[in-house]
Amino acid sequence: CFLVASEVEQTYIMIKPDGVQRGLVGEIISRFEKKGFLLKGLKLFQCPKDLAQEHYKDLKERPFFPNLIDYITSGPVVCMAWEGDGVVASARKLIGATNPLQAEPGTIRGDLAVQTGRNVVHGSDSPDNGKREIGLWFKEGELAQWESVQTPWLI
Ligand code: TYD
Repeated sequence: CFLVASEVEQTYIMIKPDGVQRGLVGEIISRFEKKGFLLKGLKLFQCPKDLAQEHYKDLKERPFFPNLIDYITSGPVVCMAWEGDGVVASARKLIGATNPLQAEPGTIRGDLAVQTGRNVVHGSDSPDNGKREIGLWFKEGELAQWESVQTPWLI
C-alpha cells in the first residue's frame, strides 16, 4: 500500500549552537544515520530571532523564553528533516530527557550535555509539530526527493 506524502511521518531535528561550536555535529548526525531513518533535509543555518520565536511560540510565557531565543540565535545551527514510521518518538528516545542530568546514558543529551539550557539538540514532540517545524525551517525545494532511489534498508 502506498502512503501519500501527507501521511509520511517526519521530524525536525536541530543541532543547537552549543552542539555546533563544541564540534559535535558529526557525532550527533551519526546517531540518526545509524538508526536508519531517511534523511530528507540538512543545512547549516543562522537562525533569525523571529523564526526562533515562532518555533518556540508555545513556550513564550515561560520565564526562560528570552534566554532560549538568545541561545538558539547565538550561532549557526544544523537543521535536519528525518522521515520514517515512528521517527518522531524514536528520535526523542535517541535524544533523551530535556534535562541532560536526567537523560539516560546512551542518549545524545545523556552522553553529551549537562544543562537544560545547553542541551545540544532539538527534536519535534509530535508528528504534527514535525510537519509544522520542517515547514518553518526549510523552504520548498530544500528537501531531497528519494522516490526514484532504491533504499530497501530504510523504512
Ligand atoms: P521543551 O519543549 O520543554 O523540551 P524539549 O526540547 O526536550 O522538547 O523545551 C524546549 C527547550 O527549552 C529545551 O530543550 C531547553 C529549554 N528549556 C529551558 O531552558 N529551561 C526549562 O526549564 C525548560 C523546560 C526548557
